[in-house]
Amino acid sequence: MSATSKESTPVVKDRRRRSLEDLRISVTDRCNFRCVYCMPKEVFGSQFQFLPRSELLTFDEITRLARIFVSLGVRKIRLTGGEPLVRRNLDTLVQDLAKIEGLEDLAMTTNGSLLTPNRAQSLKAAGLKRVTISLDAVDDALFQKMNDVDFSVEKVLSAVDAALDAGLRPVKINTVIKKGLNDSAILPMAAYFRGRDVTVRFIEFMDVGNTNGWRLEDVIPGDDVLRRIDHEWPLEAIAPTRPGEVATRYRYRDGQGEVGIIASVTRPFCQQCTRARLSPEGQLVTCLFGAQGDDLRSLVRGTASDEEIREHLSHLWANRDDHYSELRRSLTPGLPKIEMSHIGG
Ligand code: GTP
Ligand code: 5AD
Ligand code: SF4
Ligand code: SF4
Repeated sequence: MSATSKESTPVVKDRRRRSLEDLRISVTDRCNFRCVYCMPKEVFGSQFQFLPRSELLTFDEITRLARIFVSLGVRKIRLTGGEPLVRRNLDTLVQDLAKIEGLEDLAMTTNGSLLTPNRAQSLKAAGLKRVTISLDAVDDALFQKMNDVDFSVEKVLSAVDAALDAGLRPVKINTVIKKGLNDSAILPMAAYFRGRDVTVRFIEFMDVGNTNGWRLEDVIPGDDVLRRIDHEWPLEAIAPTRPGEVATRYRYRDGQGEVGIIASVTRPFCQQCTRARLSPEGQLVTCLFGAQGDDLRSLVRGTASDEEIREHLSHLWANRDDHYSELRRSLTPGLPKIEMSHIGG
């Protein structure tokens, strides 16, 4: 991963003048958790048809597409899922991606259940830079209620330590807050991670997919979360790490680290949305709330050259006009959307 100057890359802009900078790659639609707000058991039970292996993009296909994306301006790649670590030999993919000239950041979002110290070290050695671990409570009973597969919180907390020890830094935690379910976790989460060199980002519960039973009443606005934490441990706003960062950052005035707020419902950030998403079966989705994607798999499995694929992607991005979160309140509820567990956050 060596840096090339951004000026050498012809920048492609969409219809809202947003450039293409991040690529999120979902490597599997499977997950070993059944978080109640993401993969409810009643829907994702033993009868649920996950993608057969033949439908998944191979590592070579993913890497080829990623290289073309980088040639169009992508600087950051995040591996996600489902749970990315359930995909076999993921280290090999990390190794291949890490070699892409011009890529500056390679991260992963994981639930941490499979992130043992050995795994964390091998991912680091393969070239992964950092991880974000999803964790919705530090209280064991509440966490088990959230993941719905009796997974104990101790193991995820150990995974956070394993990531820190392996140098997969900065380590961040994603915590989705749903009113009446885990709002009691806000202060304990902040308390546990303060002073541990780990940033917790509290995310507003979103209406992704069709199965999570979202209602606006279940959203606790990010500002309320902020007020509750600030009341215990005073905070002050700090500047974004880079333009378009989805989290607003705050530091504890007593120097014990920082927290983030991702207010995607109450404060949409579509105007800074520079993300493209690749699904496990090779659909390109340009909005988290998209109903369907563009089939890149048939292109990579066909006779198209890299240049032809590049042209195609460039054209897709240039025509993009997504801004769902800005429209959310005026749109009819019930439109079909892709599942979060399929495309990753
Ligand atoms: P950092 O580079 O570490 O800041 O990570 P990131 O900006 O890629 O954030 P991450 O992937 O961890 O995203 C955190 C959460 O923000 C996701 O799980 C989603 O819930 C939400 N999120 C991220 N991107 C988008 C987006 O484009 N639209 C909306 N509506 N929500 C998003
Ligand atoms: N709203 C907000 N965030 C969600 N995630 C999953 N479902 C939702 C939702 N409905 C988050 C997960 C994970 C990331 C991939 O997306 O907690 O951190
Ligand atoms: Fe939970 Fe993430 Fe799995 Fe969804 S993909 S069920 S949020 S661990
Ligand atoms: Fe981007 Fe769509 Fe999220 Fe808006 S709603 S920030 S366009 S992914």
